[in-house]
Amino acid sequence: MMTDGEITELLTTEDVSEVEELHGRARMAAESVYGDRVFARGLVEISSYCRNNCYYCGLRRDNLKAERYRLSPDAILKACDDGYEMGLRSFVLQGGEDMWFTDERIAEIVREVKERHEDVAVTLSVGEREEKSYRLWREAGTDRYLLRHEAADKCLYETLHPKEMSYDNRLRCLRDLQRLGYQTGCGFMVGAPGCSVEGYLKDIRLIEELRPAMVGIGPFIPAAGTLFDKYSHGSAEMTLRLLSVIRLIDPHLLMPATTALGTILEDGMERGVMAGANVIMPNITPMTERGKYTIYDNKKVTGSDAAESLELTGKRLKTIGKRLTLARGDWK
Ligand code: 5AD
Ligand code: SF4
Repeated sequence: MMTDGEITELLTTEDVSEVEELHGRARMAAESVYGDRVFARGLVEISSYCRNNCYYCGLRRDNLKAERYRLSPDAILKACDDGYEMGLRSFVLQGGEDMWFTDERIAEIVREVKERHEDVAVTLSVGEREEKSYRLWREAGTDRYLLRHEAADKCLYETLHPKEMSYDNRLRCLRDLQRLGYQTGCGFMVGAPGCSVEGYLKDIRLIEELRPAMVGIGPFIPAAGTLFDKYSHGSAEMTLRLLSVIRLIDPHLLMPATTALGTILEDGMERGVMAGANVIMPNITPMTERGKYTIYDNKKVTGSDAAESLELTGKRLKTIGKRLTLARGDWK
């Protein structure tokens, strides 16, 4: 176990060679479990409606400027079919907390994806629900669930969210998901208002306690129509250091090089992977809706179709000695 002092040193040192060494060790840790493989997950952004009002997010319900859309179940299934044709075997259905997607509607979509393609992994990421909903979706065949904890420090959680949202319920959800046998992912933003090294230490300790299969971290990026639209974005360097420290803490983790990192850094994907990330999430949302899922400003959208962008991603990873794999990519 790394001590608070050791982690703090790694996150704050101004010695460039120490940082290089950190990233190098993290890369080796990832390679010791997953070799040179980077896993692709086809991301379908199913709805930009959200009942929540998180202070930082462009999709918050009070943001009247956000464009709202909702994919039909058929459109979601079609996106997965197309992804399957391209070779993808792992899909993430992600959306705001849109109650049009009732428990049963979501279960039915998962059942149908699994019925059509028995060899794929399905990940849901649709926010907080009751335990019985998570149970239903698990029984429907869902393999994984992403729900960032956002902030392990309760006080910070409360500065990022309105009173109607609760830190305790967030953790209740994560514990339910774990207990139900999901490969569960938590995570947090880097450099959001109020973030600090002390806060990151708490995030890291929470990860050690929960032992999730996945951790998603990316820089905070200001979004128009939010309370934080005048803040600057989080640091890419700090994001990369955190990726590396967390990789060292658990070499088995599946960790994406996030779109947010790719948005603030031209070569964010490569830098993320070089720092220990081993997942990328190509967007396979239908082109007609893509670009409307604006959780933050200037979000990177690939204009090219999904097959082309997959090919390009594969090439870019090859230049850093990695192999893109479209397989299910289960947690080991
Ligand atoms: N900048 C970066 N990440 C954000 N998220 C939401 N809003 C922003 C933002 N402005 C992240 C949150 C959420 C996930 C869907 O996206 O961590 O869990
Ligand atoms: Fe909704 Fe998620 Fe955005 Fe919060 S972060 S407003 S829950 S989409």
